[in-house]
Amino acid sequence: MPMCGITGFIGNNAAANALEGLRTLEYRGYDSAGIAFATKEGRIKVVKTVGDVSALDKKLAAEDMSASNFAIAHTRWATHGGVSDANAHPHTDCTGKVAVVHNGIIENFQALRSELTSRGHNFSSETDSEVIGHLIEENLRTMGFVDAALAAFRRLEGSYAILAAYEGSPDALVAAKNQSPLVLSAGDGFAAAASDPVPLAKCSKEGLFLEDGDFAIIKKGSLEVLDLRTGKKVGRKPIVFGTGSVFSDKQEYPHFMLKEIYEAPAAIRLAAMQEPAALEKAARLVRENRVVFVACGTSRHASLVGRYLFNRIGGKFCEVVVASEFPYIAKNIVDDDLLVIAVSQSGETADVIEGVKIAKARGAKVLAITNVVGSSLDRISDCALHLNCGPEIGVAATKTFVAQLSLLYLLASTVVGKKDDEKRKLDEVSRILENSLPGWDAVGRKLSQRLAKEPAAYFIARGPNFPTALEGALKFKEITYIHAEGMAAGELKHGTLALISKGTPVIAICPNDYTHAETISNVMETAARGAFVIGCSDEPNSAFDELIAVPKVEEHHFPLVFSIPLQFLAYHTAVLRKNNPDRPRNLAKSVTVK
Ligand code: G6P
Repeated sequence: MPMCGITGFIGNNAAANALEGLRTLEYRGYDSAGIAFATKEGRIKVVKTVGDVSALDKKLAAEDMSASNFAIAHTRWATHGGVSDANAHPHTDCTGKVAVVHNGIIENFQALRSELTSRGHNFSSETDSEVIGHLIEENLRTMGFVDAALAAFRRLEGSYAILAAYEGSPDALVAAKNQSPLVLSAGDGFAAAASDPVPLAKCSKEGLFLEDGDFAIIKKGSLEVLDLRTGKKVGRKPIVFGTGSVFSDKQEYPHFMLKEIYEAPAAIRLAAMQEPAALEKAARLVRENRVVFVACGTSRHASLVGRYLFNRIGGKFCEVVVASEFPYIAKNIVDDDLLVIAVSQSGETADVIEGVKIAKARGAKVLAITNVVGSSLDRISDCALHLNCGPEIGVAATKTFVAQLSLLYLLASTVVGKKDDEKRKLDEVSRILENSLPGWDAVGRKLSQRLAKEPAAYFIARGPNFPTALEGALKFKEITYIHAEGMAAGELKHGTLALISKGTPVIAICPNDYTHAETISNVMETAARGAFVIGCSDEPNSAFDELIAVPKVEEHHFPLVFSIPLQFLAYHTAVLRKNNPDRPRNLAKSVTVK
């Protein structure tokens, strides 16, 4: 049951176009990849393999794809069902004439599979997705491809973005969407489909973002959208792709992650360029409602900083709920005086989208903070603020965390009428950071020599930097594969201190602010047990074995500043351990399954 990237193309050089698009979707998963394309003889040929799109390229080297006039392709992130050639997509029916790619989870696949097996269908994978092709195959006995697919898709329960092709119908691909994203575009002599706008932005300025319950017929130069249940036509207005849809390259950097860390100062400035009306609307929503943040991963850590900012700048108490836990508590907290601030870089994280739907159904308002214009979250929210910092390709979020924090500073300050002041300050901080980056890069590289051999590392801080410690540990563990824990410094003595012994790395985030004295006391407690203390501070201290020096900034800007040297630390340690920091094992950038 994959959570994946899909592309489809109909027109000349379809296979090459579908593959080119697929390369930009690898942030969605890279366990295995595959393509189904039309051959010269008008047959469907499927080639798939464990590995990423470059592994697929190798396997395709001997194939003649030049005559392909349609193709569908897939890059997979496995959740259930092992990573194997057989489980890779596309999947076919028994005849090999129907091919399907799917992103999502077909929840009733077991029932469908037993039903189809009892009628003689042979399955060649363990996936939920394979049932789709067999369902279409059965319907094709009595109807044309479009009707066969419509009837098949109506039987599916769960989440899906599906593209299907049939060799008996070379002029049309069909698609359906429920919960997982799918965007379509068409132009002179071609039409294309993909999980996000990036693969489409090269040949189209705008596209149709399918809504849940949509079914689409994709033909050269034309797109038709029907309601999956009723079969009636629905109008979907084209949306112009944002500038974030332009795919970026690594330039001179060895990894996207390093390039994106260096983009932090620009990300701060870009995030601060908000449309005044949207910002004021968001601030009004914050002022007039109870507030809860709903987010996952790094976006949750940004939200936790946001909680401190709303409290200390805006005098407002709010909560942060892990998106996947939100449904379990929503019943008692959500009503029409609640504002849910949904923070999601991709705007596609399934847990966040589900939380937002629950909130909306119970009358709450939703403010989205996302980097992707036109994403599912963007479209279902009452109000949206965009990070505007360009696509982030590295799986580990870096510049988007910085952009999220910047936007939250701006929002908290707008709530109390200090927007212009904060904008100016953010600009100053971005200039200060620009000068600090090379030094942090160098110190990160130096300290990585010490950290790369360690079995564990502990990140501690207090106040608004407690989430910085959580984020520092997350970044570190997700790309180095070294166990790391981030915690409130005051919590150490309640358990984790038992794990500190001679040489254990403790990274103490320790600004010279109102948290300084108490954090230093906690540092001393670890030093007394032999910890190797890396202090991250604007003030040297004899308790530190090593210092990552940061400039003095206003106290609430420290989380923004500290996050960056910690990203360098994780990056260099990962590289030293010969890990690819852009593609940590088992992870994906956009998690569209629950
Ligand atoms: C995945 C990514 C993380 C990200 C999280 C939330 O786990 O690997 O880097 O923080 O999803 O993603 P979102 O797009 O909602 O911010």
